Amino acid sequence: MKVLFLAAESVPFVKVGGLGDVAGALPEALRRRGLDVRLVIPRYGTIDPLRWNLGQLRDNFPVGLDWRSEECQLWATADQQTWFIENQYFFGSRTTIYGHGDDEVRFALFCQAALEACRQMDWWPDVIHAHDWHAAAAIRIAWGNAARPALVFTIHNLAHQGRFANDAWPLVGVYDAFGELNLMEQALYTSDVITTVSPTYADEIKRPEYGFGLDHMLRERSDRLVGILNGIDPRHFDPATDQHIAQRFSIDDLAGKAVCKAALQREVGLPERADVPLVAVVSRLDSQKGIDLIVQGLGRIIAETDAQLMVLGSGYGPYEDAFRDASRFVPERVANYIGFNAPLAQRVYAGADIFLMPSAFEPCGLSQMISMRYGTIPVVRATGGLVDTVPDMSQPEGVGVVFSDYNVDAMLYGLGRALAAYRYPNDWSYFVRRAMTHDFSWDTAATRYEDVYRWALSLR
Ligand code: GLC
Repeated sequence: MKVLFLAAESVPFVKVGGLGDVAGALPEALRRRGLDVRLVIPRYGTIDPLRWNLGQLRDNFPVGLDWRSEECQLWATADQQTWFIENQYFFGSRTTIYGHGDDEVRFALFCQAALEACRQMDWWPDVIHAHDWHAAAAIRIAWGNAARPALVFTIHNLAHQGRFANDAWPLVGVYDAFGELNLMEQALYTSDVITTVSPTYADEIKRPEYGFGLDHMLRERSDRLVGILNGIDPRHFDPATDQHIAQRFSIDDLAGKAVCKAALQREVGLPERADVPLVAVVSRLDSQKGIDLIVQGLGRIIAETDAQLMVLGSGYGPYEDAFRDASRFVPERVANYIGFNAPLAQRVYAGADIFLMPSAFEPCGLSQMISMRYGTIPVVRATGGLVDTVPDMSQPEGVGVVFSDYNVDAMLYGLGRALAAYRYPNDWSYFVRRAMTHDFSWDTAATRYEDVYRWALSLR
């Protein structure tokens, strides 16, 4: 089965968020099952052909977009499994991925060029699998063809839909439509199967509170909507082999985790104390992630607990400032690293005791899974993928703390439950070990996606 897999970002070439991790890992897991998957992403200016040893598969070919024609080039990795759409103006000259004034043209061009690249290469997919709104136009455009592939669209975040003024419609080949163009809505409407990244999120988005205005359409198409939990790369995130952490550890030998904690405390300037719990936040600093609750609760975490807090991430300026200020006033309790730093993130996952993730909504969430892999106990809000990956301590198979209400009291009560459990080292190491045994590898998800592809083919 041939699958054309489209996304705006993919590790290791370019990553802004979890979408990049998924686009990097899932095609590989599908290939292990014998599928022929070509991943296609734009070649942004930050992707250096020399560094990645890319070769040009096709020189200039014209890509039609409404009245325009743009010259694109097709590049690929040496194994030809990852394709890159190059256009100097729309991608090559840009070093940031999202948020340009002409994003609708950029990503429509990306999609149209990816379909044209298949023609150029004489490689025609059985399935097009597009991710989030940046790839949505590929579904809408392909749908218009009589002999079309099966169309599968995955929602990673319904909050970002790609909404543009009505004059953008011709970019997807439509000339008689009125009202704004919502690229994600178009893909939801025209795909054979819609997936999203956790079963709970698949339910939530059918409700107005989480549907961002598209719940109505998702209810209508609910017989075509499935939630498939993401995985993480168990080889990349493995405390037994991780080269970035102070001392490696495993379920059978947890001594290294204490060494990692002490090393982390030293590295980020917190007092080196084995007896106080170290709480970590590794996150984009925005309201989706519940950072407003942490900022509001900071004073009480400092006053009412003895925990240390380490925050790694960047995002909304006032949140960044709040953490910087807290580190300045109580450096013995709060540390921060404002920015993105993958090796440090791994040291934080390894060295912390508790991982705090009070998201307002969370389609899947990857960091709670990574933290569990490193034996760090998650405290999460009951939403989306957090519900599906973190069983509460009160359950027979429990590992973490799950709280429901979105307010500071509820979060602090949840954190308090974890801090109380931390006082009992025997119980705690039991939770730590259990967290580390969870299997979050991609193989289960890849099997489910293969089923989805077959289903989509039968529905076409
Ligand atoms: C988005 C979602 C996140 C999910 C990721 C990968 O970033 O916000 O919850 O884990 O996509 O699917």
